[in-house]
Amino acid sequence: MIEPSNSEYTIRECTTVEDFAGCLNLQRKVWQFSDLDITPLRSFVVTRHSGGASFGAFDRDNQLVGFCLMLPAFDETGKPYFYSQMLAVEPELQNSGLGVRLKLAQREFALRVGIPMITWTFDPLQSRNAHLNINKLGCVIRKYKVNYYGNVSTSTLHAGLDTDRLFAEWWVGSGRVADALTGNRSAGQPEAVIEIPRDIDELKQQDLGKARQWQLQLRADFQKFLSEGLYCAGFEANPNGNSRYLFFKDEHQEEN
Ligand SMILES: CC(C)(COP(=O)(O)OP(=O)(O)OC[C@H]1O[C@@H](n2cnc3c(N)ncnc32)[C@H](O)[C@@H]1OP(=O)(O)O)[C@@H](O)C(=O)NCCC(=O)NCCS
Repeated sequence: MIEPSNSEYTIRECTTVEDFAGCLNLQRKVWQFSDLDITPLRSFVVTRHSGGASFGAFDRDNQLVGFCLMLPAFDETGKPYFYSQMLAVEPELQNSGLGVRLKLAQREFALRVGIPMITWTFDPLQSRNAHLNINKLGCVIRKYKVNYYGNVSTSTLHAGLDTDRLFAEWWVGSGRVADALTGNRSAGQPEAVIEIPRDIDELKQQDLGKARQWQLQLRADFQKFLSEGLYCAGFEANPNGNSRYLFFKDEHQEEN
C-alpha cells in the first residue's frame, strides 16, 4: 500500500528542460512508445509559452515520477478551454493518488486563469480511467470517437484494438466536481447502463477476439445512448466483476 507515502511527492509546474526531459522518459516507460510517438521536448516548451502548462510529481531527489500536459484550445464557437493531452504515473506508484493530485494542479491553474472546462480522452474499456475520471474527478461524457488515433500507435497499451476514445468534460468550477472531490456524490437511478470488464489488458492477453467483441458492443451502445440525448455521468466500479457506465438525461447542468 503506497498511499501513506503519497505526500512525500511534490506537485509543481514543469518549467525547466530537465523537468520536460523527465516527462519524455516517463512517456517511454508508461506507454512504451517508440520515439516517433513521443511528444517531444520542444512541444512542452511551446505549450508553456502559449498558455498551456505541464505539471509534474517529484520525489525528494527532484526526480519526476508523474506528469500531465494540457494545451490551450477553442471550441467551435470560439470559447476557450484546455485540452489535457497526457497523464502518467510511474508504474510502481500507480493507484496511490498521484493521478488525482496532478489533475488537481490542472484544475487550480484553470480556475486561476478563468477557464471553465478541461477535456481529455480515454479508452472506454479501461475501468481504472473511468473510475478516476467520472467518480473521483466528477467528469461527464458527451462524445465518443471511433478509432480516434487510427491504428498506428506504437504503445503496448494501445495494441490489438481500435483506438476508440471517450471525451471527458471536467467543469472545474461546478458543484458536481466539488462533490466528487470530497466524495459526496451519489449517481442516482440511471436511464441506461453499459458494462465493461474489470481488466481489459488481461482479457486482451487471454482472448483478443473477446476483447474486440466487448469493444464493438460498447461502441454501438455508447453511440446509441448519446444520440438519444443521454450522457454518461456515473460509473459503478466493481472489483469482483464487470463495471458499469451509468447514463442520465442530459440537462447540461455542469456548465453552471
Ligand atoms: C491513469 C493514471 C495516470 C492514474 O494515476 P494513478 O496515480 O494510478 O491514479 P489514482 O491513484 O489517483 O487513482 C486510481 C484509482 O483507480 C482505481 N483502480 C485501479 N484499478 C482499477 C480498475 N481496474 N477498475 C477501476 N478502478 C481501478 C484505484 O483503486 C484508484 O481509485 P481509489 O483511490 O478510489 O481506490 C495511471 O494509472 C497511469 O499512468 N496509467 C497508464 C497511462 C494512462 O492510462 N494514462 C491516462 C490516459 S492518457
